[in-house]
Amino acid sequence: MEIMENKGSNYQVADISLASKGRMKIDWAESRMPVMMSLREEHSKLQSLNGMRIAGCLHVTKETAVLVETIRAAGGDVSWSGCNPLSTQDDVAAALAAKGASIYAWHGMSVEEFYWAIDKTLEFKPTLTLDDSADLIFSVHNRHPELAATIIGGTEETTTGVHRLRAMARDGALKYPVIAVNDTETKWDFDNVFGTGQSSIDGILRATSVLMAGKNFVVAGYGHCGSGCALRASGLGAHVIATEVKPTAALKAVLNGYQIMKMDDAAAIGDIFITATGMKDVIVGRHFDVMRDGAIVCNTGHYDCEINLADLQQRTESVREIRSNCEEYTLKDGRRIYVLAKGRLVNLAAAEGHPSEVMDMSFANQFLSLVRLAREGKDLEVTVHDIPEDQDQIIAGIKLGTMGMALDELTAEQIAYQDDYSAGT
Ligand code: ADE
Repeated sequence: MEIMENKGSNYQVADISLASKGRMKIDWAESRMPVMMSLREEHSKLQSLNGMRIAGCLHVTKETAVLVETIRAAGGDVSWSGCNPLSTQDDVAAALAAKGASIYAWHGMSVEEFYWAIDKTLEFKPTLTLDDSADLIFSVHNRHPELAATIIGGTEETTTGVHRLRAMARDGALKYPVIAVNDTETKWDFDNVFGTGQSSIDGILRATSVLMAGKNFVVAGYGHCGSGCALRASGLGAHVIATEVKPTAALKAVLNGYQIMKMDDAAAIGDIFITATGMKDVIVGRHFDVMRDGAIVCNTGHYDCEINLADLQQRTESVREIRSNCEEYTLKDGRRIYVLAKGRLVNLAAAEGHPSEVMDMSFANQFLSLVRLAREGKDLEVTVHDIPEDQDQIIAGIKLGTMGMALDELTAEQIAYQDDYSAGT
């Protein structure tokens, strides 16, 4: 692999001349992220991250830029890479680099370049790591274990990453404490549901411009992300079919008015398929064998393993990019199947990821977790830690306040009533 390295500088981006365009996107995001902006104001005075070197591996979007610049305003030094080869917004990466941030990310990186970029961010020997799906933490543990001794702690943004990090902690393989930013109400109930729901449909529509009304929309996985996709697709008039392996999740889908089927059955009647499971091989060869001519297939899970594209390729006569982020596979029997964003997360590759308003809360939890690690990380047990419940409530409260909404408060009598076990019916 040969990377035309931008020697002597602290960045590698697609085109630095895109910086002013990216800056406008960041300005726009800032105007929609009031929680982050209030944290920036507070922590730039406190300099809470002073002396911290933070390596980040997270989608380079306009919202991430707001996080990066908040970290820098709080005194932290950053070195950043994207956490997916297709999600970097090149103009935003350029805008960050133009302001002096160390960043190694461009849209369309190869897998080799992806790991090269992670390694570049590790050159400044971070004291904290920030991840979305744990590729950075895995790189430290598997390829640069000598760096772990000086890393105080890390944060993890997403379900897939937290799952694997908990497995590492169980096996005693984790070398520094990690905070599970994913496992919060604001992440599960807002980012995963409303963020993934809206941005995935946005990606499908940008890539295809099809009418959703009347379509059979098959969502694989009815967790938080899948339920968000189902909600928004049904809002546009699609008929939603969900596939599941977990009985309670399947029951939720049914009681929300959707149909539950095995993928083996749904494959033959779906018009649009989206995978949101975090599991590999959800759509495989036998499913492609029965799909309708014209079926659209995409994924919104972190990794590109949910749709088995090798199986599809085996059955394919020819492939062409018919629209941006939309590849037409013409099968040997003449049917056409359309794959969006090469099976990578459609919301970030074909659209702009979650809207700024939801990332405002997730990134507030990211930022406050870094501050907590800087303050007390050295004393934390080496395992995966949850975010304190009150931190999440405070963030949601600030958000509501910025929306001009007020909450009731419990009276002292009501608080006492909650704990009163002398009272009955
Ligand atoms: N993950 C999902 N949407 C995102 C966004 N807009 N920015 C960063 N990470 C994201």
